[in-house]
Amino acid sequence: MNSDDDIAVVCIDVFREFQDGTRVIKVLRGTNLTVRKGDFIAIVGASGSGKTTLLNLIGGLDKPTSGTILVDDIDITTLNDDQMSEMRRHKVGVLFQDQHLLPIFTALENVEVPMLLDDVRVEKRHKKAIELLKAVGVEHRAHHMPHELSGGMRSRVALARALANDPAVLLCDEPTGDLDHKTGGEIISLMKNLAKKERRAVLVVTHDPEVARMADKILLLRDGVLVEELVGAFFQVSGVDVEAGPKDRDTPVEG
Ligand SMILES: Nc1ncnc2c1ncn2[C@@H]1O[C@H](COP(=O)(O)OP(=O)(O)O)[C@@H](O)[C@H]1O
Ligand SMILES: [Mg+2]
Repeated sequence: MNSDDDIAVVCIDVFREFQDGTRVIKVLRGTNLTVRKGDFIAIVGASGSGKTTLLNLIGGLDKPTSGTILVDDIDITTLNDDQMSEMRRHKVGVLFQDQHLLPIFTALENVEVPMLLDDVRVEKRHKKAIELLKAVGVEHRAHHMPHELSGGMRSRVALARALANDPAVLLCDEPTGDLDHKTGGEIISLMKNLAKKERRAVLVVTHDPEVARMADKILLLRDGVLVEELVGAFFQVSGVDVEAGPKDRDTPVEG
């Protein structure tokens, strides 16, 4: 194996089975994956194909039945619980569809949370949170509560928070699912630019052809393994017209 310091994530022959009563559900069946620093990868696949399962394994929220997973050169399958939570705090950023911002904290405080958990001193925490909010274009909303922000702005704050611990890998599970195409596209290009600039690896699970089209590579999860997919092929099968640009779709104006 190549121990190239350009590589952010490696999955080698990863299996994940779940026991459902007497039945065994074989979700991942020998999945392989290599993601380089700065790569922006889209993962597509039918509902129930195991996309979230795979992200949970890479993010250290779950362990494979067998196989090896390296995150930033650490074999995370050998870590104990404490080491795993430390790995998560330092190496992984996550972004979900509903952004899970803490409702009683301001945008700024939400971005500070990961640094708080990591005992970063208050001045440094503050300065960094402001810089991140600036990078995602919402520093003017730093002192607003989540309910005072639009969906797009909340996603930007959630992105800033996901980047607060300088993660080697950013894991996004349908991050734009509840946004209109225009706003979703803006978030994704922001994510891509920040990732390239900082050389983070980004894995985005998506059903949105616009998002997949922006990726360096599209991987299809099918029958428990990842296969490289041509842009559009998956969506054509799914009945989505990938040739239609954002202008052809409903793009409600963000409030
Ligand atoms: N903790 C679990 N226990 C039992 N079955 C699970 C668990 N997590 C996921 N599964 C099953 O694994 C399959 C893949 O789920 P998931 O990774 O959520 O798919 P996707 O994100 O692609 O829609 C589904 O059949 C789901 O029911
Ligand atoms: Mg899922």
